[in-house]
Amino acid sequence: MQTLAGKKILLGISGGIAAYKCAELTRRLIERGAEVQVVMTKAAKEFITPLTMQAVSGRPVSDSLLDPAAEASMGHIELAKWADLVLLAPATADLIGRMSAGMGNDLLTTLVLATDAPIAVSPAMNQQMYRNVATQENIATLARRGMMVWGPAAGEQACGDVGPGRMLEPMQLVERCEQFFGPKPLTGKSVVITAGPTREAIDPVRYISNHSSGKMGFALAEAASQLGAQVTLIAGPVSLSTPANVERIDVVSAEQMHKAALEAATKHDIFIGCAAVADYRPVDVATQKIKKTADNNDMQIVMVKNPDIIADVASLTQHRPFTVGFAAETQDVETYALGKLARKNLDMICANDVSVEGQGFNSDSNAITVYWQGGQQALGSAKKTELGRAILECISAKLASA
Ligand code: C5P
Repeated sequence: MQTLAGKKILLGISGGIAAYKCAELTRRLIERGAEVQVVMTKAAKEFITPLTMQAVSGRPVSDSLLDPAAEASMGHIELAKWADLVLLAPATADLIGRMSAGMGNDLLTTLVLATDAPIAVSPAMNQQMYRNVATQENIATLARRGMMVWGPAAGEQACGDVGPGRMLEPMQLVERCEQFFGPKPLTGKSVVITAGPTREAIDPVRYISNHSSGKMGFALAEAASQLGAQVTLIAGPVSLSTPANVERIDVVSAEQMHKAALEAATKHDIFIGCAAVADYRPVDVATQKIKKTADNNDMQIVMVKNPDIIADVASLTQHRPFTVGFAAETQDVETYALGKLARKNLDMICANDVSVEGQGFNSDSNAITVYWQGGQQALGSAKKTELGRAILECISAKLASA
């Protein structure tokens, strides 16, 4: 199907081994009706030839800022204006670093500065280079400026390492492009999402928390934004970068999350409670570090129940948003999920079995079934990014039929 008919995609290739996949990527984009103009950095040409890319794209490759002939046909500013989407794949640590610094020292980085088209960055590099604080900060900077970050995937790398840094596969990138240009059913809607754990202080150096990574909530925020919604993300302490075009409010404790969530809830159409909120907090927080004593083997911390954020949102009588909760269970998933749906007065609940190895807490995958009064939909087991989109599509369909 011509899902990308007439879409002009500027494919920027930098010098990483994944560049060899760009011929396949280009073929698949063109197959779906896109026009693809390839721009290569000097290093990219060491990994795949401009001749190959010209043959598959049907257009001469642009690779030089200072080439009078190229400037005479389609100059760099014209090229920047031509694109409906700039896709940087693979985006090496070097390209990401140069873009983060705002440099324009070759054709590709100049185009990035000169375009007002949306930009998608698909990082690809060695896992250690990807994990490097400099790279992480650079990616976060690009996301903050509104660039979409697609990937990377984790797995075996060309260098033999295993970890995050693999470029998304060509078909995954094609799907991202299709989603980007596809229908945006949440246009005009606003969504607030809670994500991550909360920390409940015991004393100035200790706290009670849980293993929530925030990945599911952040994936939901990214998907909601891609589907056209205006998104506010209330995040507990996590080490994840904010998805493009998402407003983030950082909180630490359940009480702080409760305050931020109730302030935001009435101003949004949809509320998704994805955070793993601590059920209890210490009644008293010691002002000084609690010392261990020689004569005392036991200690007791008296705890008090935290407010149930989502239940309070769902019981709002005015400007109540469509309220969606999560239920992470280790047994009788359906029974507990339906119980929570009713008890907390939710419109929908996303249930997952966290007892299954490799899914749920701290993992990249999940298996979710969505329940509502009188209905359910199994979304199966998938990457949290894909599930995020499926959940939002489910919410959108439910709102449309209401
Ligand atoms: O009761 P339980 O913690 O299993 O419920 C999970 C759902 O409730 C999730 O949507 C979670 O974000 C929300 N929740 C909340 N405030 C709490 C506890 C849970 O919003 N204090």
